[in-house]
Amino acid sequence: MSFAVANLVRRGVSRSFAPRVAQRAGVSAFLTTGLRATPRRYGVAAFSTKQESTTDFDPEAVTAMDKQAPPSPGGDFRIAIVGAGNINFGSDEGPWNHSFRLEHKLGPRLKVTALIDPSEKRAKQVLKTKCESFVESAYKDTKIFPNAEAYIASLKPGDRPHAIWVGSPPAYRGRMEKNRDLEVVLCRELPDIPLFVEKPVSTGPVDQAFEVADLIKESKTLVSVGYMLRYLKVVQKMKQILEDNNLNVMSINARYIMAYEHTAKLDWWDKTQNCGPIIEQATHFCDLARYFGGEADLSSVMAHSVEHDEPAGQLSKIPVDESLIEPENRIPRVTCATWKFEKGAVGSLTHCVALQGQNYSTELDVYADGHMLRLVDPYNSPILYFRRPGDDHEEIVRYQNDDPFFSEVSNFIDCIEDGPNAAPILSSYEDATKTYALTWAIRMASERTANAKKNSAN
Ligand SMILES: NC(=O)c1ccc[n+]([C@@H]2O[C@H](COP(=O)([O-])OP(=O)(O)OC[C@H]3O[C@@H](n4cnc5c(N)ncnc54)[C@H](O)[C@@H]3O)[C@@H](O)[C@H]2O)c1
Repeated sequence: MSFAVANLVRRGVSRSFAPRVAQRAGVSAFLTTGLRATPRRYGVAAFSTKQESTTDFDPEAVTAMDKQAPPSPGGDFRIAIVGAGNINFGSDEGPWNHSFRLEHKLGPRLKVTALIDPSEKRAKQVLKTKCESFVESAYKDTKIFPNAEAYIASLKPGDRPHAIWVGSPPAYRGRMEKNRDLEVVLCRELPDIPLFVEKPVSTGPVDQAFEVADLIKESKTLVSVGYMLRYLKVVQKMKQILEDNNLNVMSINARYIMAYEHTAKLDWWDKTQNCGPIIEQATHFCDLARYFGGEADLSSVMAHSVEHDEPAGQLSKIPVDESLIEPENRIPRVTCATWKFEKGAVGSLTHCVALQGQNYSTELDVYADGHMLRLVDPYNSPILYFRRPGDDHEEIVRYQNDDPFFSEVSNFIDCIEDGPNAAPILSSYEDATKTYALTWAIRMASERTANAKKNSAN
């Protein structure tokens, strides 16, 4: 991000933006009152951060792909996919792979009519792999387009997709500027076509992301954003405990310690590309913190960092040549932030680029009077450790075969097919934009502190 844009965002966060978020504090009710449903199959209820919402979480709901009934027969379900990369087509980096889950949700009904990606080579490669497999029928007629405009220009009335699945880099979306305004183009040219959009919603100025959110809301386009951890059963269980006991959350403490040894994308290490690990990665935990704690008061955010040029920030196994990145654009190794939630609780986040090997160490704790809810390892093996009032023991809650990626895909398809009350969608575009705002506020606060320290040393 350029200095000018960073300044724009900084102004937005510290002045106009924070009150704007406050005004929007009740907006998640849009998501939850509009889309609440009895979760017969997927075990997730459309909870809001409002205390009056009810919990109808079903721990028995089947969420694993291999435990689902075979997809029902029916007409074609046409999808245009944006981005031929890891999130949509899978990689060794993690369990994400939206196309795989769409195939299992829709079976032979799935028809991927378009794959939009400026890298024709990558698009051809993933289509070749699909066409050599048993899912060939979904991809044999897929056309490749370099951008959304070319795709839209080619559309004939019978080709209109039932959904557009966006997994392109966030640098090309969530803004009002040409070529970075994907959602604006889609809502204008293809209104009424539901959009699945990956996190984070953008890498651009926060106020532009809110403009996009407003346009989406006005167009009444159904949108689901990929904050899949909300769909975890243990997360829904935590929500249920908080709501059933009418608890006021006192503190939320998130700890995200990543294993960096195999993070070999140069852009990830460059703040001008991926915006840094809070906006790109810890966004999932900032989102969960908001899910449990409500809106954060952005003006209260304070943060410290360990930067790349400090003794404590030296890492011995960085898998890229970091010297290719300008020193001022290198990511911090540690970011520690605290803030107040508007409802009074204190939030904190520690993000650390420290571990080697493969597995991250992640945990999010929620405290309320007499209660401790400790969510451990939500990515790999989610467990909830739960302490009740008047008791010293920690109960353990664990659900087998829970696949939050499948739940978010499945719920979205059900809403498209059976109406917006068919299944809960837990992250709207506007709600996801508030998470984006919190992550920027944390990055800005840590940079302010680091710069102040440098200036005082000079
Ligand atoms: N929810 C999760 O757990 C999760 C996991 C991985 C990635 N993601 C998100 O998914 C998004 C994509 O990440 P990825 O890992 O798939 O990246 P990637 O680099 O593997 O793939 C991105 C693809 O998009 C293409 N592309 C570039 N510009 C484009 C444009 N303007 N229009 C269409 N396609 C374009 C690239 O050529 C590439 O094929 C990011 O926002 C990332 O944060 C989310």
